[in-house]
Amino acid sequence: MVFPDAKMSDIDVRSFRYGSIIAATLDTISAGALDATVGGTMMLWPVTAERDDAGRLAIGGVGVPDLAERFGTPLYVYDERTIRQQCRLYREAFGGIYPNNRVVYAGKAYLAPALIQIIKEEGLSLDVVSGGELYVAIQSGFPAERITFHGNNKTPDELRMALDAGVGEIVIDNFYEIQVLADLLAEHGGRVDALLRLNPGIDTHTHDYRKTGIVDSKFGLLIETGDAASAVERITQVEGINLRGYHIHLGSQIFEIEPYVAAVEALFQFAGEMRDAFGVVPDQISPGGGLGIQYESTDPDASVMEFAEAVATATKKGAESMGIDLPELVVEPGRSIIGPAGVAVYRVGSIKDIPGIRRYVCVDGGMADNIRPPLYDAVYEAAIANRSGGTETTVTIAGKYCESGDVLIRDARLLEPESGDLIAIPASGAYCLAMASNYNMALRPAVVMVHDGETMVMQRRERYEDLLARDAMTGGVPAR
Ligand SMILES: Cc1ncc(COP(=O)(O)O)c(C=O)c1O
Repeated sequence: MVFPDAKMSDIDVRSFRYGSIIAATLDTISAGALDATVGGTMMLWPVTAERDDAGRLAIGGVGVPDLAERFGTPLYVYDERTIRQQCRLYREAFGGIYPNNRVVYAGKAYLAPALIQIIKEEGLSLDVVSGGELYVAIQSGFPAERITFHGNNKTPDELRMALDAGVGEIVIDNFYEIQVLADLLAEHGGRVDALLRLNPGIDTHTHDYRKTGIVDSKFGLLIETGDAASAVERITQVEGINLRGYHIHLGSQIFEIEPYVAAVEALFQFAGEMRDAFGVVPDQISPGGGLGIQYESTDPDASVMEFAEAVATATKKGAESMGIDLPELVVEPGRSIIGPAGVAVYRVGSIKDIPGIRRYVCVDGGMADNIRPPLYDAVYEAAIANRSGGTETTVTIAGKYCESGDVLIRDARLLEPESGDLIAIPASGAYCLAMASNYNMALRPAVVMVHDGETMVMQRRERYEDLLARDAMTGGVPAR
């Protein structure tokens, strides 16, 4: 067969009406749906994950082996119920204690029209960080006024796009952006709501690449050096920028709550100084997102409830100390909304034993669909999806791409894998597909959403001809 990936049947893609399974409205998911995240903590597998009598894994009432057969592997499976449940977990946690709140889904974790539709239905707002994310959001019918535009180097074109779209707010990250916005507003007129991203110099115990609130970071304006104060002064001089308040994002995959409290305290300390210096009073503040999720069953629990209580209490204290009305409290979870809902499914091919050293079990995906392990030593667990029972063993699950670092899980504990088995990796919903590439001319995987026994194709698997779609020489596009 010339194009083996033609197996991913186009007929399947067309036979599912787009959005047909996005039917679970607020009342069709039972009130008890939150039970699975006891106390508002994260879980490893989607809430609907189960094994049938034959030991085959099912998600959303659909057998994973059937999905793999139908759509090929690697395959990403999203569980609609888990996504909605995570959205509600945040909304209910904050709604109960701080009504003037907004939960903003950070689209960088994973973005697709079907997901955007769910985010919209669940009443969340959306954080985008590029013209591309903004484009996809608008094309998917997401209301512009519920979009927050982030990023540490927004280009003039992107900022113009955001102004034209009428986004809810722009989070200004640096002096350059203040100038670009000032020029655009002077040229085109209009007004825009903005937050200023502060860097409070707070460390978190996460991988260095996931820290964003430390002094040595490309993100935000340092409070410590006086840059943040200078930026506030500058913004107050620009006609058309309405500085609503301040934003801090500390990093990602964070399990401790104290750094968030420290961040809110630092934010209000700064806000008090800015009120005294320039008369700026915040009516919105944000401690960002970043709450950790379980990747291995031994990982600690991150509790959304605890997070909500801690930042809400700190915000109330901060507002009281300034003697101002309670500002809108905005949080920006990405990973903790979509991470637990996604499962990656691979098929085992070659198996290589190096006696006394290691057993490599190679799967048909790897760093092209999930760069996280080589990028920042991310860890995962795995399970055989097509059978259960038998003895467990320790193997290394390697990808198929031409890098020695292309290893998905080192020393994974699972049933002895055989060629042809399916391996499922939970907690694959965030920052996998979002960072996927065509390395080795890999075809990006199909993505399906499952719910109550139904399956919807969210994104078809790439085909070989997609690899030439942008190519000038082969006639894909004009050469300019
Ligand atoms: C500004 C901002 N907000 C929110 C997030 C979401 O973080 P997470 O997906 O860890 O919740 C990020 C991601 O790094 C971010 O940079």
